[in-house]
Amino acid sequence: MDEPVLVTGATGTLGRPVVDRLLADGAAVRAMSRRPRRGSDDRPYEWAVCDLASGVGLDAAVRGVGTIVHCATNARNDVATTRRLIEAARRAGTPHLVYISIVGVDRVPFPYYDSKLAAERLVEASGLPWTILRTTQFHDLVATMTLVQRRLPVTLVPAGLRFQPVEVTEVAGRLAELAQGAPSGRVPDMGGPEVREARDLAASTLGAAGRRRRLVPVRLPGKAFRAFREGGILAPDRAVGTVTFEEYLEGRAKAGRL
Ligand SMILES: NC(=O)c1ccc[n+]([C@@H]2O[C@H](COP(=O)([O-])OP(=O)(O)OC[C@H]3O[C@@H](n4cnc5c(N)ncnc54)[C@H](OP(=O)(O)O)[C@@H]3O)[C@@H](O)[C@H]2O)c1
Repeated sequence: MDEPVLVTGATGTLGRPVVDRLLADGAAVRAMSRRPRRGSDDRPYEWAVCDLASGVGLDAAVRGVGTIVHCATNARNDVATTRRLIEAARRAGTPHLVYISIVGVDRVPFPYYDSKLAAERLVEASGLPWTILRTTQFHDLVATMTLVQRRLPVTLVPAGLRFQPVEVTEVAGRLAELAQGAPSGRVPDMGGPEVREARDLAASTLGAAGRRRRLVPVRLPGKAFRAFREGGILAPDRAVGTVTFEEYLEGRAKAGRL
């Protein structure tokens, strides 16, 4: 039997469709989460309960895997958790480590991005065969920025910011493909099909959710937000995603999740 692919962050926005895609491709999958598996989940994969922050369950999670798709994230400790994962993977063998990162982590001095860049460096220096994919923001994240403000009488929008949101299932498909291929180092970035003003995306989200709110632009201070405004998170020459933000919103509305 094939060695399983370990997916860290398997319960997350990205990890879930990565698991789905790997299973659809016929791969053996081991899903990692800090939580026990739901009793109703009878899909054909293994489950590894592990906390990357403490290391509890980690050696068992990496045992015998041929590939690790590292999707787990936690803004407070991504560098420490990635280091711990690499150390355990090396004790277990030489699995192919596939890491998901963000377009612009080397251009935008934002603390979370600094930690993603540091984690990339750890992956590159890990001694393991590796692949890194950077993508732009997922549609879900961009929609959530508006939807979380449902209790406010207005909707705040970061002034002058543009996004190039990408459909997470397309990112998952690419990661699954990379995980089942040879280690490739840093692969070309992946961006969504359109670069759009944050204001325009917020208006679309409100429209799809059937909410009427005045949009209030907020100019965010500091070097990081200047770099965001200068387009540091965009990859216009890598607009390879095909699902538009409006198509995503339509699907979400149909599923009753707006
Ligand atoms: N969201 C975006 O727009 C975007 C864009 C580009 C790249 N990315 C990258 O894609 C990756 C996944 O993002 P996401 O949006 O899918 O994140 P998410 O929905 O917040 O999911 C985070 C996952 O990490 C797991 N996790 C957190 N702390 C953990 C710990 N201590 N030990 C083990 N597992 C832990 C969680 O699992 P449990 O709670 O089940 O333990 C959860 O499955 C991240 O690396 C992110 O930087 C995201």
